[in-house]
Amino acid sequence: MTQSSNTPPSQIITGKARLAGVLGWPVGHSRSPALHNYWLRRYGVDGAYVPLPATPENFVAAVMGLKAAGFRGANVTIPHKEAAYRLADELDHSARRAGAVNTLVFRDDGKILGLSTDGDGFLASLEACGMLPQPQSRAILLGAGGAARSVAAALQDRGIQVAITNRTQERAMALAKALPGVEVLPWNEWEQKLGMFSLLVNTTSLGMEGGPDPLFCPDLGQAAPELVVADIVYVPQITPLLASAGQHGLRTVGGLGMLLHQARLGFREWFGIDPQVDDATQEYVLNSF
Ligand code: ATR
Repeated sequence: MTQSSNTPPSQIITGKARLAGVLGWPVGHSRSPALHNYWLRRYGVDGAYVPLPATPENFVAAVMGLKAAGFRGANVTIPHKEAAYRLADELDHSARRAGAVNTLVFRDDGKILGLSTDGDGFLASLEACGMLPQPQSRAILLGAGGAARSVAAALQDRGIQVAITNRTQERAMALAKALPGVEVLPWNEWEQKLGMFSLLVNTTSLGMEGGPDPLFCPDLGQAAPELVVADIVYVPQITPLLASAGQHGLRTVGGLGMLLHQARLGFREWFGIDPQVDDATQEYVLNSF
């Protein structure tokens, strides 16, 4: 990893260190260890955050083992988010709405609390650049997976009207059933209807380096001039979709902000400090790629 000029002082890990990590399979691609340990150093917290590779078969045993070993909790990433939802003793509003959990908190009373911070992290990343749409405005989401559900739920909770479109229409219908009020548009028609929306969000892996279609670039010709185009993909930082939006004179939001903002709540729960997402944080995480 390249150490940037804003690298904070060295980490403190004593016998009383607070511990957390990220459970995933595979987990080697995760940026969360770099981010959380950056914050731990920056705020001088006695603690550590580690990658925790756990297979689906071992997921429950891994969580129970972490709890037994005194961890304060963990992030949960692909493919464990639904298993974490089922395992938690209590769920917050966002986790219930998302049908998934990305943050586990081991409480002092022995209970496991499940949170979903992806949707709120996405909204916070829009808010940070002054691009959160007004209530009653309309958003269209590409995709119908877990990320789409978290983002759709968070937008709805802010009073924004949500439409989704997905290659596999049945999956879109299932999401709309889970979140009443979500409208479904056919995958081959949404580009012509783009003018009705003030926010477009790609929640699929289309446009991602190494993903199913790294060159994914829909036609934005029908966009209204005020359309904000957001992508949750952050590798590359400027996806072909965002590049095209820029060429059309539209405002854009990349996926890195969501990654950083979704991490804040877990850090606060485990380590007791609300960490700042600022340029230094962004630069550090970018340099860790
Ligand atoms: P996550 O939980 O991270 O959202 P996921 O459940 O695997 O991940 O969902 C991936 C999304 O990307 C889906 O909406 C998927 O569409 P399908 O439901 O039709 O599979 C979408 N996706 C993946 N590859 C795609 C492709 N080549 N073309 C169109 N959509 C694609």
